[in-house]
Amino acid sequence: MSDNPYSTAVLAWYETNARDLPWRRPDASPWSILVSEIMLQQTPVVRVLPAWEAWMERWPTPAHLAKEPSGEAVRMWNRLGYPRRALRLHACAVAITEEHDGEVPDDHATLLALPGIGAYTAAAVASFAYGQRHAILDTNVRRVLARTETGVEYPPKTQTKAEVALAESLLPPLPSVAARWGVAVMELGALVCTARSPRCADCPIAGQCAWRSAGRPAYDGPPRRGQTYAGTDRQVRGKLLAVLRDSTEPVAKAALDAVWDDHVQRERSLDALIDDGLVDPLGDGRFALPG
Ligand code: ADE
Repeated sequence: MSDNPYSTAVLAWYETNARDLPWRRPDASPWSILVSEIMLQQTPVVRVLPAWEAWMERWPTPAHLAKEPSGEAVRMWNRLGYPRRALRLHACAVAITEEHDGEVPDDHATLLALPGIGAYTAAAVASFAYGQRHAILDTNVRRVLARTETGVEYPPKTQTKAEVALAESLLPPLPSVAARWGVAVMELGALVCTARSPRCADCPIAGQCAWRSAGRPAYDGPPRRGQTYAGTDRQVRGKLLAVLRDSTEPVAKAALDAVWDDHVQRERSLDALIDDGLVDPLGDGRFALPG
């Protein structure tokens, strides 16, 4: 298989335009890369940066985290959102410590078998931490490929087999180059080929872009829901969890009740946190982060 027609242009662009992010540095450990990928999945880079620094400072290896109660991971997660990721990262640290001698596995199938690691994260860690050749399909990459290759403004709502096949067909043959290509396309999507206002004038592959050469036709697929937050159960859960995070002691129900007026929504949100294992209802009517 030969290089795709624009890999050189994208790699050269990355060389001069990539952000200097700590998890991309040559000395970043596989564990620090795994942590970054979990954090970056649903949270923007600017918010991840300080959280990642604090996390790595406190838990530089999986063994450090595995020794702590999972509630400490939830506490450290702070306001990154989607806090079940903190529990998954903790479970992952325990599995790596107990089953893999504390070393993040380098094999895609073994990574995939870890708790909370999906196909994307397994591919990202194998590629970015171990220089292997895997198709990396995050939202940024999917958008770039939808535009340049398929000629549409946005990819399908959920990932298709066709997208995976396309991404695999574009992978440069040499593993180390493929790994760099993966992060380079991701960066192009994050900085240039953005969702709402793509900067085609700055794009190294604008000349080969199917969407641009078709005149940037407007998206005509099913409505793409923006993520609303205000007033949602997710917001209420965030407020409830913040009370527990900010207290070193278990808290009384009254302290939780104070964060939201609508009691039906509040109780539903608290139940969801308990179901997810993010909140522990102690027998005495108080609530705590999980032990
Ligand atoms: N660099 C490596 N992985 C990344 C990601 N998921 N998002 C942004 N930058 C990254």
